[in-house]
Amino acid sequence: MTAEPHPLLRVRDLRTWFHTFAGVVKAVNGVSFDLAAGEIMGLVGESGGGKSVVGYSLLGLIDPPGRIEGGSILFDGEDLATASEKRLRQIRGREIAMIFQDPMTSLNPVHTIGRQMDEMLRLHTDLDKAARRRRCIEVLENNGISRADERLDSYPHQFSGGMRQRVVIAIALLAKPRLIIADEPTTALDVTIQAQILRLIRREIREQGTSLILVTHDLAVVAEMVDKVAVLYCGRVVEIGPVRQVLEAPSHPYTRGLIDSIPDPDHRTPRLNQIPGTVPDVRHLPTGCAFRARCSRSQPLCGEVEPSLTPQLGGGSAACHFPLRAGERP
Ligand SMILES: Nc1ncnc2c1ncn2[C@@H]1O[C@H](COP(=O)(O)OP(=O)(O)OP(=O)(O)O)[C@@H](O)[C@H]1O
Ligand SMILES: [Mg+2]
Repeated sequence: MTAEPHPLLRVRDLRTWFHTFAGVVKAVNGVSFDLAAGEIMGLVGESGGGKSVVGYSLLGLIDPPGRIEGGSILFDGEDLATASEKRLRQIRGREIAMIFQDPMTSLNPVHTIGRQMDEMLRLHTDLDKAARRRRCIEVLENNGISRADERLDSYPHQFSGGMRQRVVIAIALLAKPRLIIADEPTTALDVTIQAQILRLIRREIREQGTSLILVTHDLAVVAEMVDKVAVLYCGRVVEIGPVRQVLEAPSHPYTRGLIDSIPDPDHRTPRLNQIPGTVPDVRHLPTGCAFRARCSRSQPLCGEVEPSLTPQLGGGSAACHFPLRAGERP
């Protein structure tokens, strides 16, 4: 028997905690998933679930009082959870790039776009000056920025918000990284531009064979963009699987709740199906299942034993003692 090829990214039992004066915030508390080369994974869940902290952890960007407490982040076999800051700096940008929600957090206002793009290529590739310039123009044009050679001499403030985010995406793609982590990359933009930019990201990463982790609260975006989806709740993956399965026949009542709380775009009705209750404080998580107080299927067992991810029919996994069967409602 031959060994299975290892995935590009293998995260196991990742725990990232913040040691605050008010207590230990277990923002990410036992997250595991695999991502294959070229695969697109959506990371969804309510605010505070730990989506961004997962993204920052993968890039080694957790600052005190936060700390990776345990687990592993195997990137092409190398554990980033224990890698040195020097090694992480080499990997960021070249192998793993990040696109944040606000383009101004990634762009330096005092340098031209061209200088910032050139810097990225100078640090992470062996291209000479002329080849770097050609690559910058090519990537900007692929991202829908016309007259790119002139635009290289512009400063970030001379671009509109949508254009700036295209530039940020262009910079992320420049060095042909193997993984991009995009945290709500289009939330700050208006809806028509959002769709355009997402399609662009998708096309380019498919062409380059890059993997993508897309953090979003927008399940319509998930349905259109991703291959598989992980649902985070209180720092844990409660459901993960192929996107069609998770969206059409979710196993976890929390996933079902998220799907049912999407407002109806045609009828503009108020959201009648909000998940009841609120997300518990991750400093004082209850024993057992963290979702149980909001769950109509809850049984005594749910308060006693924390459910672990268990394979479901259809290829995904869910962490629930009483998972929904296909089509069933809570
Ligand atoms: N620097 C920090 N210090 C203390 N707690 C933090 C810090 N950063 C994040 N947290 C906490 O970690 C938890 C997870 O936060 P995170 O930002 O990952 O959520 P999220 O799923 O990205 O939410 P959103 O959808 O609002 O972006 C939250 O409880 C948050 O308050
Ligand atoms: Mg976030």
